[in-house]
Amino acid sequence: MTTGTVQREAWGSRAGFILAAIGSAVGLGNMWRFSYVAAQGGGIYFVLLYLIFVAAVGIPVMTSEFAVGRLAQESPAKAIGRLGGKAWTPLGWLFVFCGFGILSYYSVIAGWTIRYSFDALRHAIPADTGGYFQAVSTGTGSVVGHVLFMAITIFIVLWGVRKGLERAALILMPILFIILVSLAIWSATLTNSGVGYAAFLNPELGAISVRSVINNAVGQAFFSLSLGMGALMTYASYLKSQQNLGKEATVVALTDFGVAFTAGLIVFPIIYSFGLSDQVGLSMVGALFISLPAGLQSLGQAGDWVVLTFFVMLFFAALTSAISLLEVVVTALVDHGISRRVAAIGAGLVITLAGIPSAFSIKFLTAADQVVGNFLLIVGGFFTAVLVGWKLLPLADAELAKGLASEKVRKGWAMLIRYFVPPVLLIVLVWIIIPETWDAVRALFSP
Ligand code: PHE
Repeated sequence: MTTGTVQREAWGSRAGFILAAIGSAVGLGNMWRFSYVAAQGGGIYFVLLYLIFVAAVGIPVMTSEFAVGRLAQESPAKAIGRLGGKAWTPLGWLFVFCGFGILSYYSVIAGWTIRYSFDALRHAIPADTGGYFQAVSTGTGSVVGHVLFMAITIFIVLWGVRKGLERAALILMPILFIILVSLAIWSATLTNSGVGYAAFLNPELGAISVRSVINNAVGQAFFSLSLGMGALMTYASYLKSQQNLGKEATVVALTDFGVAFTAGLIVFPIIYSFGLSDQVGLSMVGALFISLPAGLQSLGQAGDWVVLTFFVMLFFAALTSAISLLEVVVTALVDHGISRRVAAIGAGLVITLAGIPSAFSIKFLTAADQVVGNFLLIVGGFFTAVLVGWKLLPLADAELAKGLASEKVRKGWAMLIRYFVPPVLLIVLVWIIIPETWDAVRALFSP
């Protein structure tokens, strides 16, 4: 039996697809980065700018990825060259490279959440959370967590779309939502919750320039919505049913925003109720992994339970995102005739090895995030918009028409993806992202 005659896998239900797409979007990016960058500059204005960007760029790009995915019924690595012509083939492989590159360092951070969860469960997080974080995040300890996390991700992807990806989303996402809401309610009862909310949404610019605020909003939107690297395109390629893809994209994007916003409502009251505000500026990762556990220690064992719940939520969020990252690589290999088992294990092993430098150096991890998780995603998003807006528009529009009857909405989408998204992304790339990326790479090589 050749792969050509094997029936392509498909989602078992609409809920399965939607929850898996939300699972991809909701990840480490939501749980901390969003509220952190908001508090850093712009506050509520940042939130509004972010929402406008999500509506005008994020949702149209996501709708395009959904349309091309369902239309193609195969991996982006194959479909993009087939639909767009030979010259577009590199874009499909850029997607695969991004899945590979992001997962390599994403899994390292996710590995830390495993270690934190275990130690919180054993009441074994030491008082010196700074030293503890050092030990967990660099060197062999970090490698162990990374390998463990990759093994779990590979194991789920091995099972395929319905038994692996869909089942994981159907189980993990509801638990994640319950934890999220419970923690937000608990946070609201803390003595200084109001001060925390105010710090999160404080409209002042702080030390940050308008340019950085835009950089943060655009980078955050692409990363958080899983755009620009074919993850959601891949998920849509397993769709058989003809639902309204514009609506699905809106649901995914708004849920992703809701989770990020709620996470801010959890984290900031904790920071301001346990006197940690002076540590927030230190570093993004540090504040999450050092300050939060330090503050909660004053609650004794009860604090350990909160830490446990929080890091388990982070772990679940990271897992459903990692699955989608690995799936982009695996589906490309499967479409080139390799069995899912060999593809998942083989790609997984190579990604595990590629993550080792990030497990040893946070500096390397940060640079990888800027290059692949920010710069390349926006490059991918730009070319996706050009391809769909200028080459595949009739095809993509016909695909959308299958569930999206309203011609007005489709016209609006077409206008945005053709005339608005490409120039906006190009300006942002040249003006902001390329200089920032250049700085990050230079910083890596300076002592
Ligand atoms: N969206 C995920 C997060 O916020 C990360 C991700 C990026 C997943 C790109 C898939 C593709 O953590």
